[in-house]
Amino acid sequence: MSLPFDGAISTYYQDEAPGWVRKQIDEAKKDSVLDPEFPYDHRWDKDEYEDAFHAVQIELVKLQSWIKKSGERIVVVFEGRDAAGKGGTIKRFRENLNARGVHVAALPKPTDRERGQWYFQRYIKHMPSEGEITLFDRSWYNRGVVEHVFDFCTPEERELFFRQVTPFETMLVGEGIRLFKIWLTVGRAEQLRRMLHREGNPLKQWKLSSIDVKGLALYDTYTKAIGETLGRSHTDETPWTIVRADDKRRARIQALRSVLTAIPYDGRKDEALQPLDDQILGGPTLWH
Ligand code: ADP
Ligand code: AMP
Ligand code: MLT
Repeated sequence: MSLPFDGAISTYYQDEAPGWVRKQIDEAKKDSVLDPEFPYDHRWDKDEYEDAFHAVQIELVKLQSWIKKSGERIVVVFEGRDAAGKGGTIKRFRENLNARGVHVAALPKPTDRERGQWYFQRYIKHMPSEGEITLFDRSWYNRGVVEHVFDFCTPEERELFFRQVTPFETMLVGEGIRLFKIWLTVGRAEQLRRMLHREGNPLKQWKLSSIDVKGLALYDTYTKAIGETLGRSHTDETPWTIVRADDKRRARIQALRSVLTAIPYDGRKDEALQPLDDQILGGPTLWH
């Protein structure tokens, strides 16, 4: 299979990546975490993960059954840099659930018609009805970050977005929807390592886009845009949960537990949701 950007990630790694990024990748041992500031040296091993995973999956099934019975509506927004692990976390969220009650909204770039509408309009169509869960794989936060980084929106449109985002989310919450906003954060070398892996794997190449390739060189521009976005959209009623995602397994378990812990579903087994690791999970101060 040949893609237009075939080889572009390796080329970036060889010719353009900062020396310290390449060094972190080159010197990585199997199962080590690249970011020197990550709170643990090693990634979780498979056994540790699978026990926690199984227990969490049982809780998710109970959650769905409670949602159906009670008519609750849940929205979880997954955000983060390219390759942060949004898709993988969403996959594990829904893996054992009845597909009829879980909807994943991964919207493509807006059509011309959508561009002529209120920015939030196309997302509203995907909000859940009674008994349903909607998982957003990227969301309206595109306007705060990727659309800004690539000049897909004007500064005025982005300002308007920031003025409207909290009232918009406050309306969802006021309507009774349980809203979760999860930001997966990944270090620069780990992000590049994942993209190199995707490039070399025919089953994962589809995950790479020209935005990902161009975005590698715009890492610092992203960092600034993310900082502004988190700072301007984190409120008591509509908070962000930051998840350090350099270790995918820890990140998935912690992200799923953070949602489960906040919902009073029937039969909740709190031991299955422990520990909540405050080195992995936290508010915007955890983000860097
Ligand atoms: P993903 O990482 O979600 O697989 P991409 O890396 O291709 O997708 O794009 C990142 C995000 O940028 C997507 O949400 C996509 O819809 C958005 N995007 C891409 N092109 C445009 C555009 N021209 N205008 C607005 N948004 C865009
Ligand atoms: P930055 O590129 O500054 O946004 O940093 C992203 C991550 O890379 C952070 O975890 C930094 O601590 C780390 N980092 C930045 N510069 C270096 C460096 N020279 N050597 C090792 N890690 C670094
Ligand atoms: C992710 O891993 O964060 C998502 O699959 C999005 C991507 O980077 O392609």
